[in-house]
Amino acid sequence: MAFASLIALVALAAAVAAAPAKTKATCADGTQVNNAACCAFVPLATDLQDNLFLGDCGEDAHEAIRLTFHDAIAISRSQGPSVGGGADGSMLLFPTVEPLFVANNGISDSVNNLLHFLPLHNVTAGDLVQFAGAVALSNCPGAPQLEFLAGRPNATAPAIDGLIPEPQDSVDKILARFADGGDFSPFEVVSLLASHSVARADKVDETIDAAPFDSTPFTFDTQIFLEVLLTGTGFPGTPNNTGEVASPLPTGSGTDVGELRLQSDFALARDARTACFWQGFVNEQAFMAASFKAAMAKLAVLGHDRADLVDCSDVVPAPKPAVGAPASFPATTGPDDLQLSCASEQFPTLSVDPGAQQTLVPHCSDGAMSCTTVQFDGPASNSS
Ligand code: HEM
Repeated sequence: MAFASLIALVALAAAVAAAPAKTKATCADGTQVNNAACCAFVPLATDLQDNLFLGDCGEDAHEAIRLTFHDAIAISRSQGPSVGGGADGSMLLFPTVEPLFVANNGISDSVNNLLHFLPLHNVTAGDLVQFAGAVALSNCPGAPQLEFLAGRPNATAPAIDGLIPEPQDSVDKILARFADGGDFSPFEVVSLLASHSVARADKVDETIDAAPFDSTPFTFDTQIFLEVLLTGTGFPGTPNNTGEVASPLPTGSGTDVGELRLQSDFALARDARTACFWQGFVNEQAFMAASFKAAMAKLAVLGHDRADLVDCSDVVPAPKPAVGAPASFPATTGPDDLQLSCASEQFPTLSVDPGAQQTLVPHCSDGAMSCTTVQFDGPASNSS
């Protein structure tokens, strides 16, 4: 190498070594963040935890997690930007339009709740929706710490109806919608459905209180992937509701209603394109959490270029650690009840919870029959 080139190389190496690794900033309260643009989210996280989620993986947290999806997936690669802007906060900015779509039934509670915080913090609506979901999820033991990028511009128009998957949709239609909305693969679709491990339905069967999708609705664990594979035996409330099929744990008492199964979860767990991915998450907590995190990183920026956003992941609270219990067959169920369609993978060996009767799923995370929830008034309402 010529001497001059060597000098240039050494100088370049010194310059690279001297360059700061990141643009750090110190916020008004002394918190160190990745970038000054992240400071607005420090008091927002505290406000959301203290005044909405109350540190709980309960109803208000579940609703905020669902809202991240319903805001973001309202976009279409085939129909173009006029039909929806993705993760743009349109659900909050047009609260009398999108929450009324039937597929968004039940979303208005979270819209009104987040609208309370929007004027109190200097953030955009799209950022608020995705950040609130990440904060909410941190209350669910076993959840990943989601990536959070800031800087989504505010939506200028609402999304059109018809872009949100519904539980009565066929697997063909669901996979096509996810592919058209965000170029999601079947594996990523199944990964995103890990969110149903912390979910209950209010609107599928309105004759009963919120019905859980698995026996551990306050924990981000793999029970959902196991329990959806079990033979359905009955309904927690009335049969024949649109988008619902029989569940394996239908027994309830008071507000501890039995488990409810979505037809879409049932079908995805058994379809040749998704069954092995579904089964592959059973008892694989770390793999499930990492896969969900990766798919959520894609979902949360739909409609935006990652390069235009600022990485504020360091302001997302660290999640509560996983409970550490392996997946297990709920009492009264066992390996004979499995409906497996994935031929290429072996199903894990799991223990069966003791008990001659089905254990009731608690209605609230503290075991109570009446849960502490927060509901701010606002302009959004449901279709029913
Ligand atoms: C095939 C796609 C999906 C369908 C058909 C679907 C459908 C549903 C339905 C019907 C409910 C019950 C709503 C109610 O009655 O209150 C629900 C709840 C929920 N969904 Fe999904 N969902 C899908 C994907 C997702 C994704 C990708 C996420 C998040 C990333 C998500 C998060 C949730 C959460 C957290 C709840 C519980 C809300 C609560 O407890 O209040 N869902 N979903």
